[in-house]
Amino acid sequence: MAYKTLIVEIEDHIALIRLNRPDALNALNAELLGELADAVTQADANDKVRCIVLTGSEKAFAAGADIREMSTKSFVDVFSEDLFTRETEAILACRKPIIAAVSGYALGGGCELAMICDFIIAADTAKFGQPEINLGVVAGIGGTQRLTRFVGKSKSMDMHLTGRFMDAEEAERAGLVSRVVPAKKLMEEAMGAAQKIAEKSALTVKAVKESVNRSYETTLREGLLFERRMFNALFATEDQTEGMAAFVEKREPQFRDK
Ligand code: HXC
Repeated sequence: MAYKTLIVEIEDHIALIRLNRPDALNALNAELLGELADAVTQADANDKVRCIVLTGSEKAFAAGADIREMSTKSFVDVFSEDLFTRETEAILACRKPIIAAVSGYALGGGCELAMICDFIIAADTAKFGQPEINLGVVAGIGGTQRLTRFVGKSKSMDMHLTGRFMDAEEAERAGLVSRVVPAKKLMEEAMGAAQKIAEKSALTVKAVKESVNRSYETTLREGLLFERRMFNALFATEDQTEGMAAFVEKREPQFRDK
């Protein structure tokens, strides 16, 4: 499907989705988020796709929700349409891993979108922030909750209350991003990580995603039980037999997603 605000390419089992509103630093408007929800849903349903990479431009992953589009809305508007909830829920429902490859600005909804992905690889030019306070609002796509879980209360409060930006080095130190690479190497690094994931058993990949996400959504005791039972359940798969046999026989595993 052709999109107006995205460029989607599928190659070697990886769906590369590029946000493409260059005139507005990829600000998230209803059209872009609707298209993104659709592209992620399609990639999730496409058997050829084993991993998704979401990126923006060199200057901006996304500079936040589109302020122009939001500026004239009333409480009744945003409450009634539950602004951006359906779209973000659709992205969260994706069972395949989504890597955010972030260069330049990831602000407000842009930072929140990166955090909705499964992990973030940042260029050394990346800048993260939750500057909604400067607009007289708070974050609205999970920023106060997710950033706090990533970086802890103190730094999250600092970011949300002052609206300051955090560079890539600070973001890595704080645990917001998994790796920082020179800007020129960003896509090579992200596609390399996606390729590594694509080589694993798709069953095990789904199990990992569900198990790690559990740690955000339940108590430690329940999460540990979920993980143990997932570990147990994978012994019913051919890929567990193959993975362990390959190790013992000193060869590469041939996973069949069964
Ligand atoms: C709409 C935006 C935009 C945004 C940038 N642009 N950010 N348009 N919404 N969030 C537009 C500018 O208006 C401008 O268009 C063009 O992109 C280039 O931006 P400049 O400001 O000229 O670039 P620069 O001087 O380099 O500054 C970059 C910037 C700044 C620091 C990122 O643009 C900025 O502060 N943007 C807003 C960041 C922000 O507050 N984000 C949070 C939004 S609220 P023109 O036509 O003038 O050239 C949010 C809430 C989410 O995300 C919750 C929703 C439920």
